[in-house]
Amino acid sequence: MQETRKRNIQNDKKNQNLVNDSKINGIQNKSKLNENLKLKILSRTVVIFALLIVVYYTQHGDKIKPFAKQSELLPGKGQIVECSTEYMKEVDKFEGCFPKACKRFVTDKVVSVREAEDLLAVAKKGLKIGRSSGGASILDLHSGALSMGQHFINIYKIEEVKNLFTEQDFNTYRAQTTAPFGLILTHLTSFFDIHSSCHARSWRKIIETYKSFHYTTLLYLSDYDIDFKGGRFVFIDEKFNRTIEPRKARLSMFTSGKENLHYVEKVTSGVRYAMTISFTCDKQYAVEDPNANKY
Ligand SMILES: *[C@@H]1O[C@H](CO)[C@@H](O)[C@H](O)[C@H]1NC(C)=O
Repeated sequence: MQETRKRNIQNDKKNQNLVNDSKINGIQNKSKLNENLKLKILSRTVVIFALLIVVYYTQHGDKIKPFAKQSELLPGKGQIVECSTEYMKEVDKFEGCFPKACKRFVTDKVVSVREAEDLLAVAKKGLKIGRSSGGASILDLHSGALSMGQHFINIYKIEEVKNLFTEQDFNTYRAQTTAPFGLILTHLTSFFDIHSSCHARSWRKIIETYKSFHYTTLLYLSDYDIDFKGGRFVFIDEKFNRTIEPRKARLSMFTSGKENLHYVEKVTSGVRYAMTISFTCDKQYAVEDPNANKY
């Protein structure tokens, strides 16, 4: 009797244990469910975020398009843009200077790589003197202005470098800066370089006014993605912006009105050499050709 009672008690305990076990299992199942739910929420959140990022980048990535890639050798590529009213008013004042259409144009066939390299040598010769504080430097062979830090010096007035440029250098320069179609060469015709240490801000809106010049030409003297990184030229347009990737000897021209607002991206490494050649319709803003005798 006693033994059977004992057994019963033991069985009862076992049953109790079983009940307890199934209780624990229930709790564990609940927490498993919770965990699954959490995982589901987490994975969904991740997917949603990933989608958002993709959407963001495709939307934003689409807003910038290459107009001229460094890898292309372009015989000529143009785009007609609508002249800004201010620009039309401005050039209307000068007879014969009226553009049939406002334009931007890129060509790799007008200046040879050899010519660009000769110009680059002239540019480097002067610019290396001004390279005191890094950043961007400008060398204007017409006035002799060379940027040095925040200031300008006149290289033709400094004794040590007075005869830095030879007649040959000026010939090289003049050969590339003759004004076409009765236009007149004007100020802001200069070499410039942008170093990676340069603050992009100061170069973002270089040209917005056209008080003295009506056509801008840029001649690139170094290669994007080879000699330097970053530093693409970007036209600011309504639907999407268009980039010109600098290429040695690449020439780009555009009317200097608001229709061609642009900026230059920050240079992240290397040095970006280019030259601006500006033309005007207004004789009063003409600049004379530089030459060795004059200085
Ligand atoms: C073009 O660039 C400008 C200047 O960075 C920017 O404000 C503008 O949003 C860009 N336009 C487009 C369509 O992305």
